[in-house]
Amino acid sequence: MKVVFGCDHAAVALKDQLLAEMREAGYDCADLGVAAGETCDYPDMAKALAEKVAAGEYDRGVLLCGTGIGMSIAANKVPGIRAALVTDCFGAKYTRLHNDANVCCLGARTTGPGLALELLRIFLETPFEGGRHARRVEKITQMEQR
Ligand code: RB5
Repeated sequence: MKVVFGCDHAAVALKDQLLAEMREAGYDCADLGVAAGETCDYPDMAKALAEKVAAGEYDRGVLLCGTGIGMSIAANKVPGIRAALVTDCFGAKYTRLHNDANVCCLGARTTGPGLALELLRIFLETPFEGGRHARRVEKITQMEQR
């Protein structure tokens, strides 16, 4: 699975830690930055990453900022993106099972590194359930096409 990571200046340390862990776990990971000492406006990073996921360059995206909220709001403006702010294990599991979320958003100032790692593992390992949920996700896609 190809996974792309992006963050703003509020989340560099957590992004680097999660990226290293996921590479160790065998995921094919790319890093859009930012690096330590750099800054960026979260909508710019969210747009850059979301467009790559929507284009099929990567299977999943991971976006991190202070709260994860700004990244999720911005990423969801890109057609084809279902970005979920993930804060608990149940949410991490069910946003994959039911929403087929393709971008995981995490808050570096709100979620500790141990929980963030567990949430990301769940997000990446859980498949989409399909069935009645595919019909509902398709209705979201239709909303983008108006
Ligand atoms: C940056 O200071 C902060 O606003 C950003 O990381 C994020 O929390 C926005 O949603």
